[in-house]
Amino acid sequence: MNGSPRILLGVTGGIAAYKAAELVRALVKEGAEVQVILTPRAEEFVTPLTLATLSGRPVARTEFTPEPSPTIGHIELARWGHALVVAPATANEIARFAHGQADDLLTTVYLAFAGPVVVAPAMNPKMWDHPETRENVERLRARGVAIVDPEEGYMACGDEGAGRLAALQTIAAEALWAARRSTSLLGVKVLVSAGPTHEPLDPVRFLGNRSSGKMGFAIAAAAAARGAEVVLVAGPSRLAPPFGVRTVPVTTAAAMQAALEREAADAKVIVMAAAVADHRPADAAPRKLEHKGESWALELVPTPDILAGLAARRPAGQLIVGFAAETHDALARGRAKRERKGCDLLVVNDVTAEGAGFEADTNVVTLIGRDGAADAWPRMSKRQVAERLLDRIEAERRSR
Ligand code: PMT
Repeated sequence: MNGSPRILLGVTGGIAAYKAAELVRALVKEGAEVQVILTPRAEEFVTPLTLATLSGRPVARTEFTPEPSPTIGHIELARWGHALVVAPATANEIARFAHGQADDLLTTVYLAFAGPVVVAPAMNPKMWDHPETRENVERLRARGVAIVDPEEGYMACGDEGAGRLAALQTIAAEALWAARRSTSLLGVKVLVSAGPTHEPLDPVRFLGNRSSGKMGFAIAAAAAARGAEVVLVAGPSRLAPPFGVRTVPVTTAAAMQAALEREAADAKVIVMAAAVADHRPADAAPRKLEHKGESWALELVPTPDILAGLAARRPAGQLIVGFAAETHDALARGRAKRERKGCDLLVVNDVTAEGAGFEADTNVVTLIGRDGAADAWPRMSKRQVAERLLDRIEAERRSR
């Protein structure tokens, strides 16, 4: 990163808000520029003047300026920051983030911000343990928000348990790491494929598979949050296109191949997370097929191996990552597949394992390198798999 890390610091209305003053000092001391966004309730606990003095910048408090302005406050702020850090984050603010509410400055910045987000909750232990809060926190975590878990201890209210704001050094370290990472792929085109393909039999039926697109969408979103120019070629999926990503919707393997080949020439990184059909019906009937009460045979023909084709024709310096969905002998089959397809890295998932593979929010993967070395990762959210994969991709690019 050239220049100082720029951190948007959201401060929400709980007793721990007074600690935000120390956090601002710690971040500034580490060379960060800090723009504080204070919610109206937080102002009951800490004054804008304190935070403005320590950060050296006026505190942002509302979407509206006293004088009519042509600039749109929350969008300008979202563009300025390298990372959005919310500390302390109340149960209310976490719920509002988790449900996409956008009725004040901080929640609108949260929705408009494409970079990494760090949330440090602080609240009464019973509120922290409440199923609603836990569900909201897990929703955010699944979307790639880094949660700095609160600590155990005596609370200002007299209760004891988990809920106290994490140590300020921990939050500051997480914030600085997130801000520095946010530009690590600036200027790099990353091409990602995701989702299934649908191969039509007739106008109403198709051959498909269970891929939801979650894995590939998570990779695209994480790469965009690092500043990459991301193109996502997506088979049919119910997921909303990730923010800051150019999404190219496709249906069949042939359409996916055409879109990927069109976009591949100037891509520095390609990640093939899509579950591409290996076969398609030889002919798609123009009318609905009628075979009532009879058995019938379906002729299938192979689809092109898109990944192998891209790897065979890759320009110098392009890094290609494949995925492998396996149900048995995952490692041996993954190693053989990486060699056969000619990709640099291959991510194997045993799709029969609990919390892994199709449709799940989590995945359990092993990364196989060019030398066949295998790195097995524990179960984590698909966004965390995406972040760790991008860390490895960046390390591979640096070592070339
Ligand atoms: O989408 P989700 O619900 O989140 O599920 C994630 C996932 C299980 C789909 C994902 O983690 C995954 O494993 N993706 C690859 C699935 C797959 O097709 O595996 P494969 O072993 O059949 O193919 C190996 C590689 O070749 C893949 O990178 C695939 O994109 C590619 N391929 C396959 C066939 C083909 N005709 N062309 C290809 O390019």
